[in-house]
Amino acid sequence: MKKLLCIAIPAAFMLALTTNAFAADGKAVYADNCAKCHGDDGKGQTKMGQKLGARDYTDAKVQDDLKDADAIKSIKEGMKKDEKTLMKPSELSDEDIKASLAYLRTFKK
Ligand code: HEC
Repeated sequence: MKKLLCIAIPAAFMLALTTNAFAADGKAVYADNCAKCHGDDGKGQTKMGQKLGARDYTDAKVQDDLKDADAIKSIKEGMKKDEKTLMKPSELSDEDIKASLAYLRTFKK
């Protein structure tokens, strides 16, 4: 029993560490760069989000309509509607963009 725990605990710990490190990344990028419009909960109910018309990313339909490639392009190059800027082109690295998008995906209900 003792021997098993010696293996199981470090293994679980390592797993927790690696998964957390990844999740924390996307979450931090999102909190710093996206939450002011898309909201901490992804619903877009912030002042900016409401003004600009951010969609509700807890809605499975919104998520399903959104293709990764389009989403990455929109985040990277920005998004415009008529002459209004919805999202500015991002200066984030590709990794940070993917991580923040992955985090946005976790809001899906
Ligand atoms: C200035 C406000 C603002 C910020 C900051 C912002 N967004 Fe957006 N975003 C919008 C608006 C408005 C839209 C258009 C409506 C919608 O699709 O929700 C949008 C659209 C999107 C889309 C859909 C793109 C598509 O092609 O349909 C994704 C994905 C997205 N944002 C992710 C992010 C991520 C990730 C960040 C942070 C790196 C971010 N946004 C930062 C306002 C913002």
